[in-house]
Amino acid sequence: MGVIYLNQYLKRPIEYIPLGNWPTPIQHLKLSFKFDLYIKRDDLSSDEYGGNKIRKLELILPKIKDKDLLISFGGSGSHQLGALALYSKRYGYKLISIIKSQYPTYYQKKIYEIIKENSYRIIEIEDLDPFVIVRTLKEIVKNKTYILFPGGTTPLTVAGYIGAVIELVEQIKQNRLPYPEKIYIAVGSGGSCAGILAGVWLLNLPIKVIGVKIVNSFTATKRYIVELAKLSLKYLDYKYGLKKRYRFDLSSFYLEENFIGKGYGYPTKEAIDAINYFSKKLPDLTLEPTYTAKTLSALLSREKEVVVLYWHTAPRIYKKLY
Ligand SMILES: Cc1ncc(COP(=O)(O)O)c(C=O)c1O
Repeated sequence: MGVIYLNQYLKRPIEYIPLGNWPTPIQHLKLSFKFDLYIKRDDLSSDEYGGNKIRKLELILPKIKDKDLLISFGGSGSHQLGALALYSKRYGYKLISIIKSQYPTYYQKKIYEIIKENSYRIIEIEDLDPFVIVRTLKEIVKNKTYILFPGGTTPLTVAGYIGAVIELVEQIKQNRLPYPEKIYIAVGSGGSCAGILAGVWLLNLPIKVIGVKIVNSFTATKRYIVELAKLSLKYLDYKYGLKKRYRFDLSSFYLEENFIGKGYGYPTKEAIDAINYFSKKLPDLTLEPTYTAKTLSALLSREKEVVVLYWHTAPRIYKKLY
């Protein structure tokens, strides 16, 4: 997986637990004469769940080996909590899921069922802001507890997407796709996007990363993503020793902020249009309205004559739930 590729760049390898099917496939769609869309199918990253959280979870699981309790946070349709709950149960960890209710959609309800079914305990809170989180934690924390913040983003898990960029470049070398001029990816807790940006810096690629903001939070800001990308590279260097020098380049990143609509989880008209458009073109690609449909709606309205990669981050699990 991405971590295998990343380890080639490290003096000391990162520990991970393989959960996924790597590399995830690339799909090509010709949208017009000069408009080539490539799709990195991270929805197929694992058989049972899929999506971008698998890359993070492979890095998280080794960290919790000796813990007896796991706590994490998210919306009531959080893919991070869904994936974490599913794999926690499989590996015998007790997960407390701290949840803020979110706008109800078909997708949100499906993930909520998985969270409920696989969590050891569910606690509902009114907000995911740091003060409410800390207050809730104080009530439940014991010594052997691993705390994972919303989206599962840490400087370590960002590295999952640095590895993903190295994986992508391998696929380019194998002629599976040309170098895209741009990569589009959803920005929630920012980890996936920051990882791609850091990967672009590490490999010095002439690619522009376009993060599409889908949540109104401090994590979905240009400054935060850039700092997180820097932090993850510094962390890797300090902890594992990077074999390669890297260069920060602010011009490699753009945050698209105009496609969030009313807010996190609220479908927009453009997102629904994107779902309908792609359901005809690629029936096996499941777009959900919170992240992926908004990201593709931004891509479709902004781009025309370009070779662009859309990084598909939704889990494949929706397919199984129909
Ligand atoms: C389907 C999907 N895409 C994108 C994201 C955003 O990823 P990140 O939190 O790393 O920004 C998430 C996060 O929950 C997600 O579930």
